[in-house]
Amino acid sequence: MCSENSRGFFITGTDTGVGKSEVAAALCALFAEKGFEVHPRKPVESGCLIEHQGEALFPQDGHTLQIASQSKDSLAEITPFRFSQPISPERAARLSGEHVSLQQLVNCCQPPMQSENSIRVVEGAGGFYSPIAEQLLNADLASTLNLPVILVAEDRLGGINQVLLTRSAILEKGLQLKCIILNNRLNTTTFNIKELENWVQEPLITLPIIQHHKRPWQVMKESLEPLFFKNASD
Ligand SMILES: Nc1ncnc2c1ncn2[C@@H]1O[C@H](COP(=O)(O)OP(=O)(O)OP(=O)(O)O)[C@@H](O)[C@H]1O
Ligand SMILES: [Mg+2]
Repeated sequence: MCSENSRGFFITGTDTGVGKSEVAAALCALFAEKGFEVHPRKPVESGCLIEHQGEALFPQDGHTLQIASQSKDSLAEITPFRFSQPISPERAARLSGEHVSLQQLVNCCQPPMQSENSIRVVEGAGGFYSPIAEQLLNADLASTLNLPVILVAEDRLGGINQVLLTRSAILEKGLQLKCIILNNRLNTTTFNIKELENWVQEPLITLPIIQHHKRPWQVMKESLEPLFFKNASD
């Protein structure tokens, strides 16, 4: 049983490359395993592979989410806006002469939710204040979608500042912060979780580095389960 009647989550980060896709995929896999119909969305992706697996531009994050969620949604539905250059999506769109509007992004992130067991998992691009389209931050998309937010941060020295700044920005938008995930993907020793317990009320979860595993999200989902499903046997 889901611990709350949410219809999805917005996954954001303190930065790019902190583990948003792995966490989003872990959530997708967890909810799919529990019988939910999961609609993953990574509306904008830059750094897409050219001419790969039959796609002119292949979105690796979108594809990971599709696999993890066992979703029937097409890659075109999951990641409609794709750019090849590995730069901010806003800049990539500008350089390729494309305009992406807030309404287009919102439409992408509002799939038909056919049953009570339908949920969406939306991964942003970069950090909460990273531009996602022209004159548009991830924060603007999150706030329009009004989904509970999951904040992923790199668990390293300096992480407390990044978490507290991003948390403030999320709360300032009036959004619910479901949890903060400290991802120790670089395997550093920190005391961030102990320190942060003094500053934040939201659940904090640490994830260790996952080595020798092709897909870290398959391991991460075990750590996320207790927060989202009260009774592990549900
Ligand atoms: N706990 C972990 N253990 C091992 N590898 C990890 C872990 N977390 C993330 N990674 C790896 O770190 C890299 C960055 O993670 P990921 O792609 O999820 O970041 P991201 O925030 O989604 O990045 P982007 O901003 O590009 O979307 C990936 O290669 C991923 O497999
Ligand atoms: Mg990603």
